[in-house]
Amino acid sequence: MNFEPRADVSAGELHAASQAQPNIALVKYWGKRDVALNLPVVGSISITLDSLWTRTEVRFVPGQKQDQVSLNGRSDEAESRRVTACLDLLRQRAGVDYGAKVTSQNNFPTAAGLASSASGFAALVHAGAHALGLALSRVEQSVLARRCSGSAARSIFGGYVEWAHGKLADGTDSVARPLLDADAWPLRVAVAITSKAAKQVGSTEGMRRTARTSPYQSAWVDTQEADLDVARNAILARDFDALAAISEHSCLKMHALAMAAQPGLLYWKGATVECMHRVRVLRQQGVPVFFTVDAGPQLKAVCVPSAIEQVKAVLCDAPGVLDVLDAGLGAGARAMPVGELAT
Ligand code: PMV
Repeated sequence: MNFEPRADVSAGELHAASQAQPNIALVKYWGKRDVALNLPVVGSISITLDSLWTRTEVRFVPGQKQDQVSLNGRSDEAESRRVTACLDLLRQRAGVDYGAKVTSQNNFPTAAGLASSASGFAALVHAGAHALGLALSRVEQSVLARRCSGSAARSIFGGYVEWAHGKLADGTDSVARPLLDADAWPLRVAVAITSKAAKQVGSTEGMRRTARTSPYQSAWVDTQEADLDVARNAILARDFDALAAISEHSCLKMHALAMAAQPGLLYWKGATVECMHRVRVLRQQGVPVFFTVDAGPQLKAVCVPSAIEQVKAVLCDAPGVLDVLDAGLGAGARAMPVGELAT
């Protein structure tokens, strides 16, 4: 699907704004087959959320040498370098060398296992491509977003999304594609926040350490295709129980793999584990809910819409839970009006 270049692009205004939402993997991505290109060693399946978002405005300024990046009103050197590397991919394609002014806001905690890099780089690629008038298909946007942050490949799309590991060395076959629209199976997600601190070991370093030192790495890779088949079939059949079983299995398997690295990666807090038990008790009582946890301490409980209030109440009540956010499933990256973000 191509999008039309914005009218003001042809008038010389290299300016656009986009919104993208985080996605949560149900069958996890962990491990890279190529670090420079951000190619995964395994495929993954995710859901894109609706009410948590990143909004990003990009303005390319002719004659400007450096990029100026503001994230939630602040500038961070490491983040700015990643943004510049991402914009360089777009500038190369468009054949321009202008610096950009980038303003980005998240309405949820950044870098704490809530996939802020997924929504952030999906929004940046969408807005940057739009601003430069690049007519990229969603798959092409997804390939570029993947180069900037692996899981961002999936946030270009809404609903249920599968990202293939691909086999080609250049990564052109490692693309994300939609499996099912959000509306076709509108599950809900409660996110239990157990810490607002940025995680100590980022996912790239965590994956590298795991691949080098975890004795379970080959078992992880060898069993992933079967997990993807089960999850894909469960999604296409809207089979909640099957999706619950495979999602919890994939989550616990990824964490067991990472915990067995040296030194071991332990992303959970006590409250994360308490929430896992609470979700399982609810399910034993007949409530359709399951949990998943990414490379951070927050627990995400996925449930049918009628269960969301009960799930939130049970998680809110768990010792150590600071807050519980609530989201449905949402759309992929999309354009929004320019000029709405505070700098
Ligand atoms: O894309 P990254 O580098 O943020 O890694 C994401 C890794 C997990 O969130 C743990 C799993 C996943 O598939 O999103």
